Amino acid sequence: MTGPLRVVLIGAGLRARKVYGPWLSGRPPYQDQPVRALAVVDTDSRAAREVAAHLPDAAPARPQDLDRILADGPDLVVVATPDASHYDYAAQALAAGIATLVEKPLATTTEDAFALVHADAASPGRLLVGHNLRFTNLHRKVHALLTGGHIGTVTGADFHYTLSASHTRSYYTRWHRVRAASGGLEVTKACHHLDLLAWWLDAQPSAVTAEFERRHHLPGTDGIPADADIHDSLHALIEYTSGATARYTLTPNAPTEGYTCTLTGTAGVCTVRYDARSGPHTVHLHTGSGGGTPQQVAREDGTHAGADHRMLTALTHVLRQPPGAPAQFATPAEAALAVATGTAMYDSSRRGRRLPVPQPRTGEPR
Ligand SMILES: NC(=O)c1ccc[n+]([C@@H]2O[C@H](COP(=O)([O-])OP(=O)(O)OC[C@H]3O[C@@H](n4cnc5c(N)ncnc54)[C@H](O)[C@@H]3O)[C@@H](O)[C@H]2O)c1
Repeated sequence: MTGPLRVVLIGAGLRARKVYGPWLSGRPPYQDQPVRALAVVDTDSRAAREVAAHLPDAAPARPQDLDRILADGPDLVVVATPDASHYDYAAQALAAGIATLVEKPLATTTEDAFALVHADAASPGRLLVGHNLRFTNLHRKVHALLTGGHIGTVTGADFHYTLSASHTRSYYTRWHRVRAASGGLEVTKACHHLDLLAWWLDAQPSAVTAEFERRHHLPGTDGIPADADIHDSLHALIEYTSGATARYTLTPNAPTEGYTCTLTGTAGVCTVRYDARSGPHTVHLHTGSGGGTPQQVAREDGTHAGADHRMLTALTHVLRQPPGAPAQFATPAEAALAVATGTAMYDSSRRGRRLPVPQPRTGEPR
């Protein structure tokens, strides 16, 4: 592939306006990126027009125009629509042989996520998933510490995420509030954390035991629409193929947004603190007998602590490499497992018992 990446953007909502629009228009920090938008597709024609207006070569378009647009052979399709529509668009783009970046979560059901793993294996196009949190400087540092053996073999993790009150409310008032649209917080939100845990532990989730509650957001009260059917408080024990276990909680309505994660290894303990709104983050490594000193990790500028900029910069390089080349992107199978873990957590909570996490059959490795 030579010349700028020719991109079709599907979905002209908040994510498109904050990240993909600036990327495609070359606004700072994206002024050096070799990309060009061909079309902006949305069910809301006004939204498509508004986003396309900032992109010199892009035409606003409707979903029914997509076959024609794909027939022109764009280099990349970006899917940034509500989660439940990811499957159809990604399947359509991959069937047309076109590289596709799907926003997280890959899909809202395990079946759809696994079907996309197969669609990727069968397509000359390539499926990438926007698990952008892998790209922050903090998360790369933690991954390097763990894979470098600084705490020995990782045997356990305690990951506690707090969702701010305003963010919780936005999930309960936008499309995310309906499980069929978002997969629930265990998919649309927790997929970030479930992916980070599996990446850091270098292991596949194999079983879960979970308990979900709805503590604050009762449908039909306090401006919460009556169709809201998701849970706001998640607790899970996740078992991994390596023998490691992780305790995961998501707590809503908190004063701050971010997480504390303590990783326990055979030779030490590492505690990570991530503040989603301000910095710095901290990594506190405790090996041997000393208490260790917490290291501050600066919060990088830009959306999602610089993660989006790094991810989109990596994207152009990845698409110019042969399939199978090492990349920091979650593989389709890893992204599918994040969905499968979240949905298994929901099923476990509903059925009141430990359940296995289904595994995708990956076929030919990418
Ligand atoms: N990676 C991250 O950190 C991150 C952050 C925010 C959102 N997201 C993801 O980005 C995606 C978009 O989220 P958002 O906040 O921009 O949502 P949004 O509601 O602001 O925007 C969605 C857009 O898609 C359009 N749309 C809805 N259904 C459609 C369909 N079937 N076909 C075409 N267009 C359709 C809507 O009209 C709207 O313009 C979601 O998958 C979300 O999970 C990821």
